[in-house]
Amino acid sequence: MRVLLIGFGTVGQGVAEILLEKRDYLAKEKGMEFNVVGIFDKELGGVYRPQGINLEEALETIHSGGNLTQVHGESLDEDPSGFIQKAEAEVMVEMTYTDLKTAQPATSYIRAALDGNMHVVTTNKGPVALNYKDLSIHAAENGLEFLFEGTVMSGTPLISVIQENLISSHIREVKGILNGTTNYILSRMEEGLSYQKALEKSQELGYAEAQPEADVRGWDALAKVSILANVIFGANRKPFDYPCEGITEVSANDLIRVKDQGKRIKLIGKTWMEGNFVKASVGPEEIDFTHPLAGVKGAFNALTITTEDVGEVTIVGPGAGQRESAYGVLRDLMAIGGKQ
Ligand code: HSE
Repeated sequence: MRVLLIGFGTVGQGVAEILLEKRDYLAKEKGMEFNVVGIFDKELGGVYRPQGINLEEALETIHSGGNLTQVHGESLDEDPSGFIQKAEAEVMVEMTYTDLKTAQPATSYIRAALDGNMHVVTTNKGPVALNYKDLSIHAAENGLEFLFEGTVMSGTPLISVIQENLISSHIREVKGILNGTTNYILSRMEEGLSYQKALEKSQELGYAEAQPEADVRGWDALAKVSILANVIFGANRKPFDYPCEGITEVSANDLIRVKDQGKRIKLIGKTWMEGNFVKASVGPEEIDFTHPLAGVKGAFNALTITTEDVGEVTIVGPGAGQRESAYGVLRDLMAIGGKQ
């Protein structure tokens, strides 16, 4: 399958690395070959080569401070929408930055790919939080896949587990820790590190968004809650329609005070049905030590899914990080590859 990578930041480079590392395994064990023919990044330029781009060379060029236009192939330095539609490829992987108010330019890129008869994989929360219904209909009408496993809990399988399995057990509520950066900060603050130092460390580790305000003010968790509300309950509200509070008001003293009461403060995102209405919210909550969510530390995420038929199911796993998010993309690529 010929693949376009749109966005070549932390996640995009992680995807290139994982495709290189797993090339032999995918070919020999799975009979799948993913040939990256185009890469575009707003900051790093772009390259298109129908025979396939040498990913080692692309990564080396970027790591040594270069630009993608220096990599062999045709240089791209224009807005990619037109290019995406014309490019010869079967899949576009969209990994540009999240804009939760407009979901642009990602939504235009995704529409261009679907119009160009490409399957779409995205790690971008904006388009799924704002335009899930339209984009999934657009994809289905063209007989294409629109997959986004990496948007929630990065590489920990969640969306596919919900869509393919748990949906049939009548989900009533999902509630959990959906942002790795804030969970990392709260965990480190409990150990005595200052808020600022913990935030800087989470940026160094590649957990935080380009604008860490999106993490600490709860917007990233809100985006993920909106995605879950859309996928599980067919919601059609925008993320900022739901109440949202981050961790900026949580102090070290608060963490110590609740710890003495057998609790931990966690940034909790949840969505549930109330009558015919879909409700959702994000905010700090005191969680009793006995609840599975209380023991989730560092950049790990967890989601407790309350179902009518199988009770509570909690999924715990990595929630942020380059390799983890890249794995979410690999999972989706393999799901598409398996259907070809
Ligand atoms: N900034 C996000 C987080 C990255 O910390 O969870 C993964 O979506």
